Amino acid sequence: MGTIGDTAAAWAGLRGLPQASLAELFAADPGRHEALTRRIAWPVQPGSSAEAGMRIDFSKTHLSDAALTAFEALAEAAGFGAARENLFGGGIVNVTEGRAATHGALRGSGTGPQVEEAEALLARMGMLVEAIHEGALGEIRHCIAIGIGGSALGPALAIDALTRDLALVDVHVVSNIDGLALEQAFRGCDPETTLIAVASKTFTTIETMTNAASALKWLADNGVEDPGGRVVALTAAPGKAVEWGVDETRILPFPESVGGRYSLFSSIGFPVALATGMDEFRQMLAGAKAVDDHFREAEGRANAPLLAAFADLYYTRLRGCQTRAVFAYDERLALLPDYLQQLEMESNGKSVTVDGAPVDGATAAITWGGVGTDAQHAVFQLLHQGTHLIPVDFIASIAPGDDLDPAHHRILLMNCLAQGAALMAGKPSDDPARAYAGDRPSTTFLVDDCDAAALGALIAFHEQRTFAGAVLMGINPFDQFGVELGKAIAKQIESGEGEFDPSTKALMAAAGLG
Ligand code: F6P
Repeated sequence: MGTIGDTAAAWAGLRGLPQASLAELFAADPGRHEALTRRIAWPVQPGSSAEAGMRIDFSKTHLSDAALTAFEALAEAAGFGAARENLFGGGIVNVTEGRAATHGALRGSGTGPQVEEAEALLARMGMLVEAIHEGALGEIRHCIAIGIGGSALGPALAIDALTRDLALVDVHVVSNIDGLALEQAFRGCDPETTLIAVASKTFTTIETMTNAASALKWLADNGVEDPGGRVVALTAAPGKAVEWGVDETRILPFPESVGGRYSLFSSIGFPVALATGMDEFRQMLAGAKAVDDHFREAEGRANAPLLAAFADLYYTRLRGCQTRAVFAYDERLALLPDYLQQLEMESNGKSVTVDGAPVDGATAAITWGGVGTDAQHAVFQLLHQGTHLIPVDFIASIAPGDDLDPAHHRILLMNCLAQGAALMAGKPSDDPARAYAGDRPSTTFLVDDCDAAALGALIAFHEQRTFAGAVLMGINPFDQFGVELGKAIAKQIESGEGEFDPSTKALMAAAGLG
């Protein structure tokens, strides 16, 4: 790790750089789009020599050659290379909790023993998935997957993305404690053929445990003789799952060193494997591994996730942008913005450095977004003519996901590319209400096909982008103490013990609590 002095000098260098517009940057370098496009590839099938991949075009961001050189100096000063090796080498990167962060090992990017352990756990998950498909727990046609945050957002995204055509088991992911969510899942399931997957790293989260208890009661109330026999637990706390009553043969553990929002590739992905089959799940891991390999090997601006982190910091710290928007021009990625919100905001929404000192600038931007083209007809007005400067990521698939007239996909892609071009070019007008300022940045991700490998690659890309940003800012992306205070106060409200402010007291009385 570099010293604070080193990084301060790098930031001073960055702040002193001239600001060129996107038009000026393109005029100065006609090859800019090539120089700032990266491709990460993976085999189409395991062992195949044909490859598929993802192209990322950063040229419509304001990163100049000088800015990139200065960001490379920042990465050097911040000790990026050593931090990256420490991450993959299983060192303690989560300093506040004294833990490694071994999500990379889940897809083969880690130390030998960590990768072996992950492979063994994956093989065990595969055996259970296969056994269930073959009827070991009776006929299973539905699964209610109960979890929240990192124990739900990844599975919900992957299932929505990968099972549009066919699901081997119909999975309903339920997260909210609001009983309406679970009731809706009940309506879509037959209790006779429903499995309950309880996903919780800690196996103590109140929403998940309450929902799990209600799901078991629903099975019992509907005549299922041994509801407990229909439960699978996905957790880093197997002892707690045993205490709760889950049979050890149906507990799929994962290591404590895998953080909740980084856990999709662990047994938290069990509902995904159940719905898609293990081959698809392994393809997702292969796509993620391809990104890890690139992230480990490429240096400086050649490294796509690091380059994305440079752009992120450029906009938050040098241009004062408070948000970053992500628009997936693909229905299958509709839940990606939700997933990225947790990944980025829970990881990098911090105010202190790893040493406990106040940070020296803004940290994570607020991630938000939606689906194109829908969002064009709802929020893009603000992107084009509003007063906020908002860097946008566009994500699209070259191959269509639908079997309709090819016009559908062509219009989708045309619109995606048009938005990036329009944001950058703008359009003058004598009528101020009709003028577009332009010079608004975007990055475009084009996957060859939005399949399991591409989804794994997109997820790993954003994990590594988030990690790279954290290193550059000197913060710990792997803890989340900010979520604890609200949970503690909720408990106080439940018990009625504790001092409450007058507003909260009045609201408690009105809501019949306390
Ligand atoms: O409250 C936040 C959080 O701890 C997230 O970090 C986590 O993904 C989620 O709750 C669920 O936690 P668990 O998997 O332990 O139930």
